[in-house]
Amino acid sequence: MATSLSRFQGYDGVGNLRVSESTTLRSLLPRTETGCHFVAYGDCCIGPPEPGRGHEEHLAAVHRVMHQLDPRPEFVCFLGDLIWGLTREHGPNHDGESLRQEWAVKLPREMKPLTDLDVPVFRIPGNHDTMTSVSETVWREVFDEIPQNGPEGQEGLTWFERRGDLLIIGISVYAMNMGSPFTMMGGRVDCDWVDRVLTEHSDAKFKFVLGHSPVHPVNGYTAPKWGMLPEFGEPFWAVLARHQVTAYLCSHVIAFDFQVHDGVPQITTGGAGTSSGPGGCMPAPDEYHHCVQLAVDDIGLRGQVLDTDGTVREEFQWPLPADGIMKWSFKSDSLPPKPSRVLLTGQSGKEAYPRIRVSLDGYQPRLNVTLYDPADVYPCSWHGPEIDIRHPFELTVAIDPTLGPGGVLARVGNEPYSSLTTDVPFGFKVNTWPEKWDVSTEIPVVEMAD
Ligand SMILES: [Fe+2]
Repeated sequence: MATSLSRFQGYDGVGNLRVSESTTLRSLLPRTETGCHFVAYGDCCIGPPEPGRGHEEHLAAVHRVMHQLDPRPEFVCFLGDLIWGLTREHGPNHDGESLRQEWAVKLPREMKPLTDLDVPVFRIPGNHDTMTSVSETVWREVFDEIPQNGPEGQEGLTWFERRGDLLIIGISVYAMNMGSPFTMMGGRVDCDWVDRVLTEHSDAKFKFVLGHSPVHPVNGYTAPKWGMLPEFGEPFWAVLARHQVTAYLCSHVIAFDFQVHDGVPQITTGGAGTSSGPGGCMPAPDEYHHCVQLAVDDIGLRGQVLDTDGTVREEFQWPLPADGIMKWSFKSDSLPPKPSRVLLTGQSGKEAYPRIRVSLDGYQPRLNVTLYDPADVYPCSWHGPEIDIRHPFELTVAIDPTLGPGGVLARVGNEPYSSLTTDVPFGFKVNTWPEKWDVSTEIPVVEMAD
């Protein structure tokens, strides 16, 4: 990708690029006749009270990159936390007039490049946009074009839109009528409403669901304030899995993350400008400010993660590709309890640890995968699911290095794939597979592919 400095010249007072000076970044496009391509981004929190956090500059750089995409996206999803909102003067969001003023200034200034793209924008509120009934009222006034078809009490906050093959559901995960006293308790969803909309639109080929907070923890940020309460998240995900939606898109954690649960991707993109957590991202330098360009078609979903220089830092596709991944299927009769069983190791040279180690651990065993990069001191581990060894079982483990931490996946029998749980912001980092493999004779590999 071109990274010439010339494209950064000639921007206006807030760093926005004049369109004529852009260079080109190639958009991923649908590979089949039906499909669409778009950009998802979120979390810029324009106007933080502390000076020097650089939110506006990061956002301007993300917008410059979006304007370089060729062809331009068919639409954009903004996944919440557009304004800071929570200033001491009117915080949190009790002073409607100050909030109106904040939106009135920032939409035509920092968000002008989004308007200039001249494509539909699908947006949801984040915890900085709405966290009281006053801020919900102001949101409804500012974005009065949002469809009023959400659950009772969430009109204009939660919504759906159907456009041909495409269904998009946008959810306000901090809606006051769901009883959230403040956003630090995590997100909430009216699962029955989501289920009903997905049932009524079951013929839609592509279904995207937008909500500000991740359902599954990202990079080990497991505190309730960084995600969705499991009491809401688990039934919500069961609905998304039952309808096999194309993806759940979220933000809130300042990171890019891709993981799969019950066959459904959760894509987190909180890179539009907010600096938060260690080093400004969660965590830096592994994470960085960015936007995501996606294309969906009859074959599946693909995406590229563009940093503020327009460099493609990560790419993903789902379902799993045939090439470039490692995959092992294990088949076993019922087994007696045992503290640990090693199913497979892949070693390179005389390194301290295997680069890949797959095991069942515990008397009610759980799958564990450890990956080792010789540049690190210790291996890192991925956990789950529990395996019922009292009965014959089949288990498939797959590693897709392009998917980062979410790229360590497993399926039991014919169940859909799920990413294993980890707290590191990377996946299989080494760019060569191990040289030497050892496999269990007790639980044989019945299929192995790369
Ligand atoms: Fe947020």
